[in-house]
Parts: sequence; structure tokens; C-alpha cells
Amino acid sequence: MRFETESLGPIGVEIRGLDLRGDVSEADFAWLRRTVTDEGLVLLRDQPMEAARHVALGERFGPPEKLDIKREGPDPSLAVIHNVDREGSAFADDDPLMEMLTINEGWHSDSAFREIPASFTLFAAVVVPDEGGDTLYACLQRAWDALDPEEQVKLYGLNGIHDYSAAFRQRGKEMARLVGFELPALTHPLVRRHPETGRVGLFVSEHMNGIEGMAKEEGKALVEKLVALVTSEDRVYRHRWQVGDLLIWDNRSTLHRAQGFDERYARVMHHVRVSGSEPPIAATAPRTV
Ligand code: SIN
Repeated sequence: MRFETESLGPIGVEIRGLDLRGDVSEADFAWLRRTVTDEGLVLLRDQPMEAARHVALGERFGPPEKLDIKREGPDPSLAVIHNVDREGSAFADDDPLMEMLTINEGWHSDSAFREIPASFTLFAAVVVPDEGGDTLYACLQRAWDALDPEEQVKLYGLNGIHDYSAAFRQRGKEMARLVGFELPALTHPLVRRHPETGRVGLFVSEHMNGIEGMAKEEGKALVEKLVALVTSEDRVYRHRWQVGDLLIWDNRSTLHRAQGFDERYARVMHHVRVSGSEPPIAATAPRTV
């Protein structure tokens, strides 16, 4: 292959030699997409791009989600995650967009609150703080592989409760202030099969509120234990952003979270989320003879 890849450590690779700002052939794009699904996360440096090109690149992965965040961005398919306006003035602490920054500090995968969660996210650094503001990543499938078969058997067939509005409330925030409505809780299989690679992984997050059919505290404790397993320090890649970085991740195999940062610094990130093509697929226990 014409492009070099270098492991980022516990998860993901950096790709060198591929410039996504020019014409990318079908073959090169197919290789990129496969690398994202195989590795979970790819980094490309020095890819500053305008909103229209960023969205067009996202569209090659699939239809972008329309993001309902209440603030006009350059394109309805491109969300701007920022703590300053275009003139560089900081938003007030109680601005709904600042509240979203707090929510993003919990481990999650994108749009798990939808019946069909996002498949890919393309996330670009436009302005980065001098310190802090890193994003952390972990692999849901590696954690599943680390469980012994007796533990795995107990998890098949369970459904996790994903409750984004409750995640806001637990942090003293109100989701409706950000998007204009509250979201009902929904369930997804706790153990899912990746629709493209076939790999099995956990489907957990810190925006979950328990396990269907389980006593509330017991369900929450199980979710907490599994999130801790996925995100144990040796399994986490921490990305220190540089302006022009583009990270593309597969939400069906990874969790991520924002580190947070000193809000005296500006931070502006652009992101496009790609709609998934089907609800999460429950993985079933292997048949024994
Ligand atoms: C996100 O959680 O979607 C954003 C992560 C970040 O801002 O670092």
C-alpha cells in the first residue's frame, strides 16, 4: 500500500501520505474506510479543510446526521464544538453549548441515543488550547475479548438503557436547553456484533442509566464495571490535538471522551457524524455441542 501507518498504541493508527484535501480515488477511499473499521480510529495530520469539504468527505462514508444543536453553524451537517464565538469571545458558563462540553467528558459513542446510532465521526481541530482539551479513545471489542467466557455468557441477551436526557440531569444540566427537546430513553444490546467486521464488542457508555430488567443500582453497577474495563489506562489512547488534525473513528467499536480544559483558552473543533445503516446487532452466545 502507498500509505504508511503507525500504531497509536492501544488503539488506532496514524496514516501518512494520504491527503484528504485533494481528489481521493475510489480505491484510496475504500482503503481508508477499511482502515477505520479495522483499527477503530485513524489520525491524519495537516488536513485543515473548509466545512464543505469536510462534509463531502463525511458523505463518502455515508449520509451525515443532521445535528439539532441550537446554534447556526456553517452547514447543518457540521457541528461546531466550541467555547468561543467567531469573534473569539468566550461563551457564558451556563451557555447550552458549554453544557454539552461537560456531557462530552463522559465516555460515550456518538448518537447512542438514536435507534440507529452514528457509524463514523470525522473530527477536526480548528483552534486548540495551549494545554488540556485532549480526547481519549478506547476499544469496545478489545475489552470484550479480555472477558473470560463465563463472564461473557452472563452478558449475552442483556439490553443497556441509553438515556441522554438523564445523563444531562445527572450533571445538573437540561438537554432541552441545547436542542429544544428531551429524548426518551431507549435500549440497545449490551453485546453487539459489528455489521462490517463481524467482531463482537461491548456497547456501554457513561450516558447509560442501567440494564433493562435489572434492579436500578445493580444495572448501574454493571455498566460502571464494564466501562471501567473498556477504559482501563492501558487500553486508552489520549490524543493531544494539533491544528489541522483530523481523527476519524468508528463508533461501533470505540468509546471516546473529552478531557476538558481551562476555559481561558479557545477550543474550536468541527465534526461530521455519519448515520449508521442499521440498529446495533445483538451478538449471540456461541453454540456448544
Ligand atoms: C465528543 O465527545 O463528541 C467531543 C470530544 C471532544 O471535544 O474532545
